[in-house]
Amino acid sequence: MAREFTSVGVVGLGTMGAGIVEVFARNGIDVVAVEISEAALERGRANLTGSTGRAVAKGKLAEADRDALLSRVHFQVGLDALHSVDLVIEAVPEHLDLKQRIFAELDRVCKPEAILATNTSSLSVTEISVATTRPNQVIGIHFFNPAPVMKLVEVVRTVVTSGDVVADVEALCARLGKVDVTINDRAGFIANALLFGYLNHAVSMFEARYATREDIDAAMKLGCGLPMGPLALMDLIGLDTAYEILDTMYRRGGRDRRHAPVPLIKQMVTAGLLGRKSGRGFYTYERPGSPVVVPDEQTPVASESALADGARGIAKVGVVGSGTMATGIIEVFAKAGYEVVSVTRGAEKSAKVFEAVKTSLNKGVVRGKLSETDRDAALGRINWSATLEHLADVDLVVEAVVEELSVKKALFASLDEICKPGVVLATTTSSLPVIDVAMATQRPADVVGLHFFNPAPIMPLVEVVRTIRTSAETTATARAVCAALGKTGVVCGDRSGFIVNALLFPYLNDAVKMLEASYSTADDIDYAMKLGCGYPMGPFELLDVVGLDVSLAIQRELYLELREPGFAPAPLLEHLVTAGYLGRKSGRGFRDHTRR
Ligand SMILES: NC(=O)c1ccc[n+]([C@@H]2O[C@H](COP(=O)([O-])OP(=O)(O)OC[C@H]3O[C@@H](n4cnc5c(N)ncnc54)[C@H](O)[C@@H]3O)[C@@H](O)[C@H]2O)c1
Repeated sequence: MAREFTSVGVVGLGTMGAGIVEVFARNGIDVVAVEISEAALERGRANLTGSTGRAVAKGKLAEADRDALLSRVHFQVGLDALHSVDLVIEAVPEHLDLKQRIFAELDRVCKPEAILATNTSSLSVTEISVATTRPNQVIGIHFFNPAPVMKLVEVVRTVVTSGDVVADVEALCARLGKVDVTINDRAGFIANALLFGYLNHAVSMFEARYATREDIDAAMKLGCGLPMGPLALMDLIGLDTAYEILDTMYRRGGRDRRHAPVPLIKQMVTAGLLGRKSGRGFYTYERPGSPVVVPDEQTPVASESALADGARGIAKVGVVGSGTMATGIIEVFAKAGYEVVSVTRGAEKSAKVFEAVKTSLNKGVVRGKLSETDRDAALGRINWSATLEHLADVDLVVEAVVEELSVKKALFASLDEICKPGVVLATTTSSLPVIDVAMATQRPADVVGLHFFNPAPIMPLVEVVRTIRTSAETTATARAVCAALGKTGVVCGDRSGFIVNALLFPYLNDAVKMLEASYSTADDIDYAMKLGCGYPMGPFELLDVVGLDVSLAIQRELYLELREPGFAPAPLLEHLVTAGYLGRKSGRGFRDHTRR
């Protein structure tokens, strides 16, 4: 029989504590909510009433249920109020000495059988537990932000946590409607160990002015389907908390440079820019604690005319190539009303591309998204050719041929001879330096990367890659074209992986390393990222879809260019590729797909 928890205590009512109080009170459990001072208690109360008020306004919580929920919470200053609770969850700032002091005090105040839990994200639960005389009753219960929404709880057992306590806490999680993964005490557990290197890397891109905050966030939301971009997430977590987590992970997790907090984070914390809770972080919010972003001096002007400022007029577009990407790109341009010249290596290939575009447009007709007239008009706008000479009068060329530098360079040299002056020359390369193809021409200022995502007709994102030679006019033209296609164009520098792949693949690689170290299972790691961080797929699901060979190649490129030791491909990934386990396409990757 699992232990019955009728009343719990929560210590610290900040970003996490207030949410944790809500989770328990919603599920009919009495909560003693404790803060350090009257003022902090008031802020905690405001956090809770604000959050439950929003739930009522959105129709997710009935008013009577909200009132019942609030009546279950007893706000108190000081730990003495926790003498009779069955379980305490501590959610004070991420400092070991503070947490140890609080646990020593809880040990003194709480009844002997009470379980003492910490919500720490990165500190050692074991080190916290030894501040008490009951380390076997100390456990980590790591909720995710926002606690009432995110389904995952990481239950962290130390080497001395008793099996009964683990089982009781697991049963409690189920009662709260949460999914738990139970793991050992390691810095960052599953989710944060995989998340924080990525967040820190995104901040470093912003700090280096590699891309704007809006573009970095849009890239990860639209390119990977994440619920929020990394900088908006930093603001939600709180920059002070994020700093402490990174700092601890750096020290506890083998001094991986990727966890050394980017200097900008410390500067922002010192300046009081803590994120949502202080009203300003990477973004500016309506008021402290509000989720509503308001414009500030960094907000880009979004009007159509501003987008088109300095852009060249584009009416006729050449697309070179006959693969998946070229086919999708031809469709996208033709559907958006551009006259398209498709150049392939022969009539047979052109016929294949024509069929593929037609089939895809027909699907749109069947789904009621496109009229037959519009389909015919789109097809009518495409001219099919097998000679580059037909690109003499286009305004923009998009190259989507095989991913080989020598082939692309030769093609750009030919385009340089053939195309009229003023044409914008774009490459869709996902891994080669755009500057290399630009320098194959006499007009590098007109060359830009237009990195579409697969499938191009569906994915809303395009990375606009400007080299050190790309002119402002060319970049403006590329952005205006993306907008006219109904896509979000994010501008970034010419570095390996651009924004999305540079942020995504090291995280996937880290997940493989975690599996290889036997810290957790592929299923639990996938759960952790989906239910704890809202990712649409877990890392192993995604790796199997993308292809392990493709993932390995991208990771190798990143490693070679950035020389970051932490980017070295996971040996397990290399071995699986060598063994021919490439993911779904070969029937087996991290999972066996032949038996489903
Ligand atoms: N922010 C996140 O996204 C997130 C997610 C999961 C876990 N965590 C972890 O949760 C814990 C709390 O983080 P947070 O982001 O909520 O911090 P926070 O700064 O938002 O809130 C901390 C609260 O603790 C209170 N406090 C400080 N000293 C206290 C004391 N002696 N007694 C009682 N209350 C005290 C503060 O007044 C403040 O309200 C940390 O261990 C953090 O790593 C954070």
